[in-house]
Order: sequence, then structure tokens, then C-alpha cells
Amino acid sequence: MNGDFTFTIIKPRAVAKGYIGPILNKIQEAGFGISSLKMIQLARPEAEAFYAVHKERPFYQSLVDFMVSGPIVVAVVQKENAVENYRKLIGATNPAEAEEGTIRKLYAESIEANAVHGSDSDENAAIEASFFFPSKDRF
Ligand code: RTP
Ligand code: MG
Repeated sequence: MNGDFTFTIIKPRAVAKGYIGPILNKIQEAGFGISSLKMIQLARPEAEAFYAVHKERPFYQSLVDFMVSGPIVVAVVQKENAVENYRKLIGATNPAEAEEGTIRKLYAESIEANAVHGSDSDENAAIEASFFFPSKDRF
């Protein structure tokens, strides 16, 4: 059985442009519950640690620069088959390739400033949720 929660980030440009409300609306309209939510400013070492899996990729430094450029919203959202359903809702990494109606199509500026993050597996959802909400033992 697939897990019933995933982890998401509303990234700096989307926060700066006033899209927190519209994005949370889309998430709830799609049938997700919000079980944890906070607005934070990432310190550089935190952003580096969160994106450590991408350390060898050419866009790593610029992605870290972007993620510390302003406040973000981190959240755990719940629905059946959450990881897959949420990635469908956000659309392709590159907003130019994202389907109509997806969060990235509606609210992303570019492949890097792509509005939101969504975990890519149940295992990573648990790791990422615990990274930002360490005091919770379940989501
Ligand atoms: P995410 O992890 O944020 O949900 O995005 P994703 O799975 O769709 O994409 P991933 O390959 O994990 O990339 C992580 C984030 O890195 C930035 N990126 N920039 N400049 C580029 O070519 C490039 N490619 C990826 C994006 O911000 C992406 O969300
Ligand atoms: Mg990813």
C-alpha cells in the first residue's frame, strides 16, 4: 500500500509573488488535507543538506542560492497515494512542459523557480517531513 502523506515546499518566488493562498487552495481543492504547515527562512547549510542528493548536478549551487533567497512555506499534506497524486497535481519540473491546470503551470516562473517541491517517494516524504518537523513522530 502506498503512503497517505507527502511533503511539499512553496518556494521563494511563489511566496514573494503572493501565491501562498492560491497554491494552498489548489492543494485543498484536490482533496489533500494539510497536517503540518509553517513559513520559514532556510539557512544556507539547511538548503545544502536538503538538496544534498543533487550535489553533483550542475544546477546545485544556483538551486541553493534560490532556496535561501526568501521565505518558504513547508507543509505535510495528506491523501491516499499521496506522493503520486501530489506529483500529478504539481506537474512537470519544467513549467513549460507541465500540463494545464497543474500548480507549476499556473504559478511557476522557470524550471528552477518552479513554485513547489513534492517528495518523489514515501521514504523521501518521511525523511523530508522529519527534516522540517523534527518533533513529530508521525504525520
Ligand atoms: P522537486 O524535487 O523540487 O519536487 O522537483 P522535481 O522532483 O520535479 O525535480 P528534481 O529533479 O528533483 O530537481 C529538484 C529541483 O531542482 C531544480 N532544477 N533546476 N536548472 C535546472 O535544470 C534544474 N533542474 C531542476 C528545480 O527547482 C527542481 O524542483
Ligand atoms: Mg525531486
